[in-house]
Amino acid sequence: MPYPFWETDLGYGPLMAAIAVLHVFVSHFAIGGGLYLVVAERGARRRADLPRLAFLERLSRFFALLTLVLGALTGVAIWFVIGLLSPDGTEALIRTFVWGWAIEWTFFVVEVLAALLYYYGWRRLSPGRHMAIGWVYFAAAWLSLVVINGIVTFMLTPGAWLETGAFWDGFFNPTYWPSLVLRTGICILLGGTFAVYVAGGIPERDTRLSTVRGAGLWGLTGLLVSVVGFWMYLRVDVLSQESFREVADRLVLPGLATEYMLVATALLGAGLLITAVLLPRIQRRPVGLLLLLFALMGMGSFETYREAVRKPYVIHGYMYGNGQRKDRVEAGGEESLLERIAYRTGDDGRDLFNYSCRSCHQLEGYRAIKPFFDGTDAAYISGALAGVHVMRAPMPPFAGNAEERAVLGAWIAERVDTRPLHEIHPGVEGIELGRLVYSARCASCHAIGGYGDVRETFEDFEAEDIAEVLADNEMSEEMPRFSGDETERDALIEYILSWYEEDAPEEAPR
Ligand code: HEC
Ligand code: HEC
Repeated sequence: MPYPFWETDLGYGPLMAAIAVLHVFVSHFAIGGGLYLVVAERGARRRADLPRLAFLERLSRFFALLTLVLGALTGVAIWFVIGLLSPDGTEALIRTFVWGWAIEWTFFVVEVLAALLYYYGWRRLSPGRHMAIGWVYFAAAWLSLVVINGIVTFMLTPGAWLETGAFWDGFFNPTYWPSLVLRTGICILLGGTFAVYVAGGIPERDTRLSTVRGAGLWGLTGLLVSVVGFWMYLRVDVLSQESFREVADRLVLPGLATEYMLVATALLGAGLLITAVLLPRIQRRPVGLLLLLFALMGMGSFETYREAVRKPYVIHGYMYGNGQRKDRVEAGGEESLLERIAYRTGDDGRDLFNYSCRSCHQLEGYRAIKPFFDGTDAAYISGALAGVHVMRAPMPPFAGNAEERAVLGAWIAERVDTRPLHEIHPGVEGIELGRLVYSARCASCHAIGGYGDVRETFEDFEAEDIAEVLADNEMSEEMPRFSGDETERDALIEYILSWYEEDAPEEAPR
């Protein structure tokens, strides 16, 4: 852990997501929009369609401004943010792909120059030269996708690179081609959708209708290409491999993101078909804006899904989200984490929290862990730290030793409500109290009717047998010993016994 830790009140996830989604949105549009511009310019010049050419010139201004200013700003912002949030992950990406990045940035510079020349060249360059610059623009922009796609897909499916460490194995990894086709389709789709939006404001009626319709068809073509890319993803079958499927099943987010993605894509497809291709009359700016919103929603959900199923890794199978290398972390290991932290604050608990949990959690706020530990105690938390990696949520093992688990457990306990649950919730008793105890002390690893279900184990147990199980720790090194008070224990036992009564309700998985 050679980097200092950047502590901020912002949640890491939302900060990254906000900047990245905006950047991805703009940069895909930059590619698809470039292609749309040159192809449409060629057609308009052939037909000497002056209103259309005037529209394209206007579109290219909007386009140059948006891609250059917003694209470049958010692009630089991403480097800032990933460098601060995930310095080890960023270092690994730079180290692995240093020439890839150099090529990527070269393409970006060419893209920016060509976009400027294209915009300023409408009246100053001959048509042939102008279009040639447009093609240079599009080619440079698309080639930068060709490069960055290798790096983005590498993070999800590093493939043979994990064994060989070779540049090309990491670059042309199992999801490289599906993702390239999918993203190219998205570029075309976004280019068309933006053009529909801008064209909706063309004053001349005939030009507006024909331009909107053409751009709508363009967008739908992009949608078709994306569907082919998606189908290729499914064929590669890498995302259905066990580790991804399991994560997708255990978290709520991937399923939700998939639903949003499908809904947004369907709305966008139907919207383009109806308001651009079939009834271009009704295509006005607000309608176009709505289509752009659907596109943003679809894109955001897709990227969210990709990030979610990668948990707990930042580079799958190689580095965890908190920057710890998988091969250097052993669950329940004896190695000290503190010794590996170069910049210590003097507060060991805080350092341990920052370097183990903080990249994904705040105590309160973003993906807060306080609510999960309220009503427990230092002994429980330290015990649970030995088993964070077997909790329902996909998390890395705690990278420190037993002593450090105790330090971090005590540090967290000082910041949560460690009163017994019957004091936190006065008046709650019996089975209801037991349910709360179970939720606080067991459910992270044993959801009822879901992940790690233990109902079968307790099936024939009497109260004394359960008490015995809770009193000693024969189950697993990764399972905390029961450390609640007697009232909580009795309520928990009562609750567990209630599972086997006739009308016991099926509980939802945590
Ligand atoms: C931090 C994670 C964690 C917590 C919290 C936890 N357990 Fe476990 N538990 C485990 C692990 C790991 C095993 C071993 C599972 C295996 O070998 O399949 C286990 C095994 C068990 C088993 C026997 C094996 C089985 O799968 O049926 C029972 C019963 C059990 N736990 C009950 C509880 C109860 C009751 C609580 C709350 C008081 C609890 N556990 C809290 C991690 C945990
Ligand atoms: C790589 C990211 C990552 C790291 C690092 C991480 N967690 Fe988590 N954690 C998650 C995710 C994702 C969830 C699930 C959130 C959800 O269900 O939406 C989660 C959930 C939890 C839960 C709730 C489990 C439940 O459902 O009952 C606890 C408790 C928790 N984490 C504690 C910790 C602690 C303590 C650390 C540090 C030792 C840590 N986490 C490190 C990603 C991480």
